[in-house]
Amino acid sequence: MVFQTRFATIEGNDLYIDGCKATDLAKQYGTPLYVMSESHIRHQMNELKTKFMDKYEGSLPLFASKSFSCLAIYKLASEYGIGIDCVSAGEISIALKAGFDPDKIYFHGNNKLPSEIEYALSHGVTHFVIDNFYEIELCEKIAGELGKTVKATVRVVPGIKAGGHNYIMTGHKDTKFGFSSHYGIYLKAIGQILESKNIEYEGLHAHIGSQVFDLYAYISSITKFMGFVDEIYNTFGVVTKKVNAGGGYGIAYTKDDEPLDFEVITSEIMKVVYDHYDEKGWNRPSVMIEPGRYVVGNAGITLYTVGVIKEIPDVRTYVSVDGGMADNIRTALYDADYDGIVANKAGETKTKKVRVAGKCCESADVIVKDINVTANIMPGDIFAVYTTGAYCYTMSSNYNQLPKPAVVFAHEGKSKTVIRRQTFDDLIVYDVVEDYHD
Ligand code: LLP
Repeated sequence: MVFQTRFATIEGNDLYIDGCKATDLAKQYGTPLYVMSESHIRHQMNELKTKFMDKYEGSLPLFASKSFSCLAIYKLASEYGIGIDCVSAGEISIALKAGFDPDKIYFHGNNKLPSEIEYALSHGVTHFVIDNFYEIELCEKIAGELGKTVKATVRVVPGIKAGGHNYIMTGHKDTKFGFSSHYGIYLKAIGQILESKNIEYEGLHAHIGSQVFDLYAYISSITKFMGFVDEIYNTFGVVTKKVNAGGGYGIAYTKDDEPLDFEVITSEIMKVVYDHYDEKGWNRPSVMIEPGRYVVGNAGITLYTVGVIKEIPDVRTYVSVDGGMADNIRTALYDADYDGIVANKAGETKTKKVRVAGKCCESADVIVKDINVTANIMPGDIFAVYTTGAYCYTMSSNYNQLPKPAVVFAHEGKSKTVIRRQTFDDLIVYDVVEDYHD
């Protein structure tokens, strides 16, 4: 069994993903190819449901859909009765097309456009995670015009540093997200909401960062939030009904990563919240969490075909594959580590150290920085990169005019396309050839 992905197995010399032979998938759908284990996604969604939603009354786990967004995933989330975090009108539109209940959509974002606020409200999405004063003004105005009420959870920055890379930390003072917890800024925001006509204050929201392995960061963030809840009560006499503790649950990309247990994180958060509310004699609030990577990250494996193998004496060996930073920007952007295997030689001992690079015109175009593979690797082999289910497809681009790969779900030996591969025609679908006119 491959450690990263519950539903990836090695039989003889072959890698199987959720019962499907990787080389068969590569042959049938072509490469590069994002393969997602549906069993893994279902397993993770079921954890959110049974170990959180069913366990704590009034709670709602949200799947942070920026990690992987398409019709198929919103349909699955809907099946489990969980909610979603959407960060743009585009994400909301896809969720609604998939038949997602608008009342379980929470609209996030640090710069929601007036057109997006209008789109959300006129399509029944009223739960907003309010980020800034300008948004309060916009919501008050647009909701008033549409005769709607925005139900607000207010994003507050706890002042905590956590997360796998500087670029994915959001809980510290110097961030573009949320209201500062310093100088009474968040209290001023809540005061304005309480005075507004078209926005209803429901609760607070925290998100400290992504790829977090530090339990203490979650505990200290939620403990700080109980302090904010008290200050809100002392200032306005209002009990906060909702507490969203955010996402960021770290997963294993390599054997060096040691993820926290889902129930350990959530039970610690719940203990702090429930103890606090019980002590105050208040009704327990509705608690929310919003992991993304935890749900889909380990479900994904990208299959590539090996091309050029270039040995640079005394330096290293580059193995180039038929995709690259256009389908996985994470190594270039966050210096991310990945693990992988030659899918058709999976049983062979790995004695050759290589760097797996893409075919884009950038030196930063590396997928796996250093990895041991079989010494027998050669052009035409299928190289599988583990743990590409989160933030790979959704951050993909057409850089160098590479068509985006297809996304295929594998489930108990069967497979289906959920996003088709782009064609060369797709690359010019938005191009317009016309003369200048006045
Ligand atoms: N909630 C909020 C408000 C967020 O901003 C995010 C992620 C999440 C939840 C979900 O975080 P997760 O559980 O997936 O870590 N592209 C980066 C990650 C950026 C995360 C953005 N916000 C990466 O590939 O590592």
